[in-house]
Amino acid sequence: MAACSVVRRLVGCPRWHGGQLMRQQVRRVVSTQEPEILKHQILAETTVSRDHLTPELALHLITPACHLWRAPPHLSPFPDPFWAFYWPGGQAVSRFILDNPAVVKGKTVLDFGCGCGASGLAAKSAGAKRVTFNDIDEVAMEALQLNAGVNKILVDDMTTTNLVGSAGSPHQVVLAGDLLYDSKFAGEVLTWLQQLNRSGSLVLIGDPGRFALESHPLKASLQCLAKYELAATTLLENSGHPQAFVWTFS
Ligand SMILES: C[S@@+](CC[C@H](N)C(=O)[O-])C[C@H]1O[C@@H](n2cnc3c(N)ncnc32)[C@H](O)[C@@H]1O
Repeated sequence: MAACSVVRRLVGCPRWHGGQLMRQQVRRVVSTQEPEILKHQILAETTVSRDHLTPELALHLITPACHLWRAPPHLSPFPDPFWAFYWPGGQAVSRFILDNPAVVKGKTVLDFGCGCGASGLAAKSAGAKRVTFNDIDEVAMEALQLNAGVNKILVDDMTTTNLVGSAGSPHQVVLAGDLLYDSKFAGEVLTWLQQLNRSGSLVLIGDPGRFALESHPLKASLQCLAKYELAATTLLENSGHPQAFVWTFS
């Protein structure tokens, strides 16, 4: 893998973890492109993959078969395509839902930081009443719609509003796949998720054992619901994390 490829910039570069991502967490990522052009670019730069923990779902992703996998970031038409990867934490949450559909069946669900949208799509296929897909990146919303289309799943609701810290949640289940990658942001997210849990939402957190969660005091308030071994391709993107876990507040 090239030293500064798109994939390395997103998942493998230590500087990234406290730099660009920190800014992205609070600001909406607005695209100047028309939705139709974005969709066209996503289709051109990704491939449909089932090489992950939930092969039931086909997803438009950047894989080793795509030129952006090795391309330097300045050649990418997308600033930081987090949505083009299916992160270990999201994979674990989705697998858990598909194996335990009763957790979401007939319920309202929020897929917070949905990226490619796989966990929310898993919830819809498992019979959720209504899923709200939330990501501050507008391009993620286009990717999610393409992923919904390829799986013939209807998208009920989408929002790019930063919901972190907002009071209460109308959702019965809140999914948080791989949002705990930066210590400061993880603190804000965990505090907010705990509040949502206290106000009645079931919170499902997916994480591969990242330092930001492991070192946070609220980790002691979580119980593990499931543990999964990650696929080889996912390991290429996330060296050092061979497994992913699903946590909820105890
Ligand atoms: C590591 S990716 C995980 C994506 C997906 N949940 C998965 O597991 O594949 C984190 C995602 O959270 C989004 N994000 C970051 N800060 C956010 C915020 N404050 N509100 C909503 N989404 C946010 C990013 O744009 C990115 O798509």
